[in-house]
Amino acid sequence: MKALVLSGGKGTRLYPLTYTRAKQLIPVANKPVLFRVIEAIRDAGITDIGIVVGDTADEVMDAVGDGRRWGVKITYIRQEAPLGLAHAVKISQDFLTNDKFVMFLGDNVIQGGITSLVDEFVNSDYNAQIVLTPVKEPQHYGVAELDEEGNIIRLVEKPRNPRSNLALVGIYMFDQHIFEAVNSITPSWRGELEITDAIQWLVEHGYKVRPYIHTGWWIDTGKPIDMLEANNRVLLEMEHEVRGYVDRDSKVDHNVTIEEGAEIINSVVRGPSVIGRDTRIVNAYIGPFTSIYHDCHIEDCEIEHSIVLENTTIVGIPHRIEDSLIGRNVEIRRSPIKPKAYKMTLGDNSKVGLL
Ligand code: DAU
Repeated sequence: MKALVLSGGKGTRLYPLTYTRAKQLIPVANKPVLFRVIEAIRDAGITDIGIVVGDTADEVMDAVGDGRRWGVKITYIRQEAPLGLAHAVKISQDFLTNDKFVMFLGDNVIQGGITSLVDEFVNSDYNAQIVLTPVKEPQHYGVAELDEEGNIIRLVEKPRNPRSNLALVGIYMFDQHIFEAVNSITPSWRGELEITDAIQWLVEHGYKVRPYIHTGWWIDTGKPIDMLEANNRVLLEMEHEVRGYVDRDSKVDHNVTIEEGAEIINSVVRGPSVIGRDTRIVNAYIGPFTSIYHDCHIEDCEIEHSIVLENTTIVGIPHRIEDSLIGRNVEIRRSPIKPKAYKMTLGDNSKVGLL
């Protein structure tokens, strides 16, 4: 069994963060989503992993390397443009050969990993296995319609009028028949070769496609709100540990991780949260569900339910920062310079909510 991880695409819904960074490398609870995907695959016993990369190939390759760190072997497959998930399968045929494989979208986070899913598929005679889960807004996903016995009737990508609330989770398992499908379908209205159409093709041509209903949580980290939601979920479930320094005047909850070299000075840190390597928290309040990445400086301010990326400075802010996704190398300071005014240098498509 091999794995194919999709880490190309544009990530437009996460602008401005993804102007300069691959969306799959944005951390959730201080670990890039893509690393979590690789770990889930490795934990399922698969060590031969292909990663499809696009415009952000260099950054992904720099961050992931050859996979030795996880005990896996990574092969990179370049996709010249984000022409669809089925296109990604098509260009990966030489890597996948005739082996069964799991395809995992590099921006998906799922509770409980994929070990049992992989085991069931390997030991079955199914040609494909899809994972479905009920969602509130199915129109944003691939949607499956099942009959009363639970067999697939139809799969439609982002339907205007969904016929069920069952979304396709970004984890799929296939045997070699998927290549017949991806070579037979044509691009959708959005110009992409849709994996949903390829699976529909398998169903129509009599291949056995098993729908598995996932009941735990699952998050497609497409939008900032989804990143925060994934952050909440992972922070709640992870094991916490203090490896950095906490001074005597600080109060840190038991469900807080303080990474190596981090310093907590005269501050309160409520869990679940994580403070990254070599980050300094001084005279500050860090509220629950907050992940501060490495090399940040947070002083005289309050932050809650937020993700702050590396090397960012936030000092002397009089109001609490909440529900925020703050990028790398950002500086937020109180300025004593007159006239009293907001002074901002914000990237395109930034969003700021002022009091
Ligand atoms: O997350 C689940 C959903 O993922 C499914 O319900 C949909 O059926 C499926 O089409 C997909 O929809 P999205 O619109 O969310 O896909 P997105 O364009 O965000 O791409 C998913 C991942 O695959 C992302 O990590 C980028 C990567 N990708 C995407 C395309 C289109 C590629 O590597 N190459 C591509 O050509």
